[in-house]
Amino acid sequence: MAITVTYIGHACMLMESGGTRILMDPWLTDPAYHNAWWHFPPLEVTPRDLGPIDYIYISHEHADHFDPASLSQLDKSAKILIARYRRRRFHDRIRALGFSDIQELEFGQTYSLNGSGLSVRLIPPDRPWDDSAILVKDRDTTVLNVNDCHLDDATLERLGREERIDLTFLTFTGASQYPGCFEFPLGSKIERWRASKEAHLDEFVSWARLLRARQAVPAAGNYALLAPEQLFLNTPNYVNTPAEAIERLARVAPEIEGLQMNPGDVWLPDGTLRRYKPAPDWSRRMELIEALSRQHADKIAAGFAAEPQAPRDLYDRFYEYFTGLLREDPGIAKRVNIVTHWVVDGPYGGDWVVDFTRDRDWVYRGVPNQWNLRLKWPATLVYQGVACGGIWDDLVLSFRVRLARNPDRYNKEFWTWLCKL
Ligand SMILES: [Fe+2]
Repeated sequence: MAITVTYIGHACMLMESGGTRILMDPWLTDPAYHNAWWHFPPLEVTPRDLGPIDYIYISHEHADHFDPASLSQLDKSAKILIARYRRRRFHDRIRALGFSDIQELEFGQTYSLNGSGLSVRLIPPDRPWDDSAILVKDRDTTVLNVNDCHLDDATLERLGREERIDLTFLTFTGASQYPGCFEFPLGSKIERWRASKEAHLDEFVSWARLLRARQAVPAAGNYALLAPEQLFLNTPNYVNTPAEAIERLARVAPEIEGLQMNPGDVWLPDGTLRRYKPAPDWSRRMELIEALSRQHADKIAAGFAAEPQAPRDLYDRFYEYFTGLLREDPGIAKRVNIVTHWVVDGPYGGDWVVDFTRDRDWVYRGVPNQWNLRLKWPATLVYQGVACGGIWDDLVLSFRVRLARNPDRYNKEFWTWLCKL
């Protein structure tokens, strides 16, 4: 008995063994993250092409892993596998989609699926975020899908010692608002982009090595931003291709085989790939993305046009939202302790301030004399965040925010607080 893996796209894949099928992180619709993220290379299947699914594993709540639009098209009799997180929101959002069998797995425990000889174990992140990696085993095969779960070297090393990992899926490129969405002087911006790019390539190689995997696939970074004003974020100065990750692996750790999997490709138990079609020419990545952007121009424009428009009282809602949060727990203001300037763009927007250095009256209109973080958003997105239940983490990851900071320092307290709201 051995596992086969069909790569669907980005972080989504289908693992099967002995007739049991697990679909992982089904993001199967475009676009995600408030009309920003599209699959690249494009998907080759729709949810209906997948056939019967026994289990759906969802690693975490980010929109490129947990996509309600995809899940709503899948059969609700599938059993959902997630980690047992303390916060209930993720679980409740899945249940609201109509799935009744949600199995919350304890980290570190091995669960046998369907009595089929296939087992899974979830590995917790070494960061204070709700995320998970999954180890899937049957009699003959061990596959570790790390996706974007951050593991420390000690954890990776231990896994490498304890398991004989045939195949692992690891990230290879950035998926964060830093540095792409920040305003820095051009020279410094290019430096930061290069550093980020290099760090991700190094991480791909060092993680594969610590895991002592036999084969490693660059995954969970196969997306592009297609809106014309976001195209610059796809530049090769910033984004790695799977081809670059594999090239680096071949140079630094030739004992590990790098495999490029593109939508539709199947990994067979003998370690070979059945290609669905030839891999894209990664040296033309930017050109291909620009062509895709032109091809989908109407759909992109229609997506933005369909977003709920900000209402006349947007500022009042903004005021109530942030004042309410800070009143509820004034300790937050003390911890964050910076002045944030919100430039809200579009009808019913304006210059607004959330001043965390104050004891009260935190929120007011105007341009502050001194600010530490400036966030420029479309009014439609701020409306999502303050009044429509939009998750700030998803809003930030749409990369539709423009940021500046003064001094040039990461404010961990602010980002951790905002992105967990
Ligand atoms: Fe994520």
